[in-house]
Amino acid sequence: MTSPAGGAVPVALGRRDRAPGPMPTGGPLVDRFGRVHTDLRISVTDRCNFRCVYCMPEEGVPFLPRAEILSYEEIARVARVARELGVQSVRFTGGEPLLRHHVADLVGMVAALGFDDVALTTNGTGLATLAPRLAAAGLQRVNISCDSLRPERFAAIRRRGDLATVLGAMDAAEAAGLTPVKVNVVVLAGVNDDEVVDFAGFARDTGRLVRFIEYMPLDAGGGWRRDEVVPAADILAAIAARWPLEPQAPTPGDPAPAEVYRFADGAGAIGVVASVTRPFCGTCNRLRLTADGSVRNCLFSDDERSVRAVLRSGGGDDEVAAVLRQAVWGKHPGHGINDPGFLRPSRSMSMIGG
Ligand code: 5AD
Ligand code: SF4
Repeated sequence: MTSPAGGAVPVALGRRDRAPGPMPTGGPLVDRFGRVHTDLRISVTDRCNFRCVYCMPEEGVPFLPRAEILSYEEIARVARVARELGVQSVRFTGGEPLLRHHVADLVGMVAALGFDDVALTTNGTGLATLAPRLAAAGLQRVNISCDSLRPERFAAIRRRGDLATVLGAMDAAEAAGLTPVKVNVVVLAGVNDDEVVDFAGFARDTGRLVRFIEYMPLDAGGGWRRDEVVPAADILAAIAARWPLEPQAPTPGDPAPAEVYRFADGAGAIGVVASVTRPFCGTCNRLRLTADGSVRNCLFSDDERSVRAVLRSGGGDDEVAAVLRQAVWGKHPGHGINDPGFLRPSRSMSMIGG
């Protein structure tokens, strides 16, 4: 399926696929199932200063050679073409995006293209210093990962860094106007699932949207086991037993992966990202650009196309656009995690971008 030069790609039809017409050559980025793609995740580096147990082994993973990483000019060009094809929101990810030198320069270049929403996901370590610069460059908001409110446990899960710094990063983000701050908590059975109610209390106290994320088979070590996944239903039941919850109707036209629940007493909200037990592939509008310049249509599919090959061989914007279109057109109806024949993708989370 992969066409490194972005040429015509034969589409293999699975039995769940709807018969497609020809790939459109104009209009928005639509796939064979009618899903319009308006969200681009840009990974700016595969490097990370953390080694979270659900993402990387302690010894790390081999990082990409510098020459393979897209330059800021190359990234901004892909973003511009994506904008012209109707992409409305961008998110910078990694690895840890704040490790890339002068990343605020890239944020500025991309924000200037006029996206409606410009966000970034970070582990929080460099944010206290960078938040004002990022905000001035046009970043609108951040998601910060934080899997425990207990310092020792935080250190055990993330293997590097410390809780106080990450909590300080949330304050710094708010002081710089990077709001609403969302807090990503990957819930692991027997590791931090006893903190779900504490995190709900944290959401109530701080007004931050805490999002509980089901553990996905994207760890580089290949250790994911289904019995380590804490289903969103269990997370919600634990919280609702303490503070009743009400589902918040999804914002029309916003297929955000988190299902949001408000506290019935009005003291804020929490979210669950139930990728494993309640997949939301049917409304997925996301497209990914990896740090080494591959366009990827799903976290779980190795179906990638290199836009770097086009950029570095003097290709025109129409060829960049063709790679984006083909990536979207090649998208499968779902990630298949729950199918018996599911195969883990060959790249792990830090190499794709969350
Ligand atoms: N399962 C679920 N979430 C993950 N993340 C990283 N690896 C996994 C995984 N295996 C989360 C990070 C971050 C976001 C980018 O993805 O915690 O919040
Ligand atoms: Fe780094 Fe994020 Fe992976 Fe943790 S989850 S090791 S912070 S890339």
